[in-house]
Amino acid sequence: MSPSPIENTIPNERLVITRSGGPGVLRLIQEELPPPGPREVRVRVLVSGVAFGDVLKREGLLPGMPPFPYTPGYDLVGEIESVGHSVSDWQPGRRVAAFVGNGANARYVNVPARLLLPVPQAVSDEEALCLVLNYVTAFQLLRRVARLKAGARILVHGGAGGAGSALLDLARHFGITALATASARKLETVRELGATAIDYRNEDFVARARALDPEGLDAVFDPIGGAHLVSSWRCLGRRGMLVVFGASASLRGGRKELLKTLARIARFKLTPGLRCCRFYGIGMRPHSSPALIRRDLALLLQLAAQGKLHPRVGARLPLSRAIEAHEMMNASPVAGKIILVP
Ligand SMILES: NC(=O)c1ccc[n+]([C@@H]2O[C@H](COP(=O)([O-])OP(=O)(O)OC[C@H]3O[C@@H](n4cnc5c(N)ncnc54)[C@H](OP(=O)(O)O)[C@@H]3O)[C@@H](O)[C@H]2O)c1
Repeated sequence: MSPSPIENTIPNERLVITRSGGPGVLRLIQEELPPPGPREVRVRVLVSGVAFGDVLKREGLLPGMPPFPYTPGYDLVGEIESVGHSVSDWQPGRRVAAFVGNGANARYVNVPARLLLPVPQAVSDEEALCLVLNYVTAFQLLRRVARLKAGARILVHGGAGGAGSALLDLARHFGITALATASARKLETVRELGATAIDYRNEDFVARARALDPEGLDAVFDPIGGAHLVSSWRCLGRRGMLVVFGASASLRGGRKELLKTLARIARFKLTPGLRCCRFYGIGMRPHSSPALIRRDLALLLQLAAQGKLHPRVGARLPLSRAIEAHEMMNASPVAGKIILVP
């Protein structure tokens, strides 16, 4: 006799955010996880990620975020523990990676089978996790939005962070030359990734970029937003593209800053000339979708298995220390991806 669904629940732990606020609003709760649905797979999480987007959602500042209460975590790598009755192509024991958007910061997660990809043996759990959100974002920014080829010249803001370091690593892989901003203690990380480092707190990055590239750059990747976009726009060449992929400035400036970012993007789009401005969000068409994320992640896992990518881990903390992980994101003392281990 097959077990009834209630017999197939398992004890689980997951982070929950019940209201907006600082890192202190994070709670780790214990509860039973129901069995996976017919087209789902139950994954035992090996590692999951903390991203700046999780911080903005926790503060209630990201448009389109899930309603409270919810479990944060865009990305996970884990091992299949059991499969729903309509799933025939996955077996327990398989190591997989998935972009889930929310809900990854847990011990077990039921994941739709269509989101999973196998992780090659040569790629570690941590490396694979860096690829799921940060490298897919970076790949789609470089190749799908800006369509850059070898020889292009770009500026990446936050070059030592999770997404920024992925942009620099992939830029180097594709033969693209990068300048990158970072704070003083992270400049060496940016240099190790092959970029020309700009200490944005002590230097005027527009003046530095114009001195290095008097004709202007092919693309600038800006996740800061607000008034920062005006300076980024000034670094562009005649046919350059400003790609806005975040609004970190709204963490300090709140919703007003977010609205300013959207208004500036609209203004750039109306500015006559050949320069242009695009907005990117992972999962948002036309440059991203669940199918494109899966396709691009498969390629990135292959490149990583061939030793062609060098993902950087900034910190690895147990799930029980998630508050600390979010504090690290707020204060940005680490370079690279912040990882939670159940
Ligand atoms: N659109 C998408 O789908 C998508 C996907 C992934 C990430 N993102 C965005 O990308 C950004 C980075 O996310 P993440 O998770 O990878 O976080 P992260 O980069 O690891 O952390 C943020 C980084 O930004 C840097 N920073 C802060 N203010 C800066 C400024 N004014 N100029 C230059 N650098 C600055 C900080 O380093 P310093 O110490 O150098 O200041 C820190 O390393 C966020 O805005 C996030 O929302 C967007």
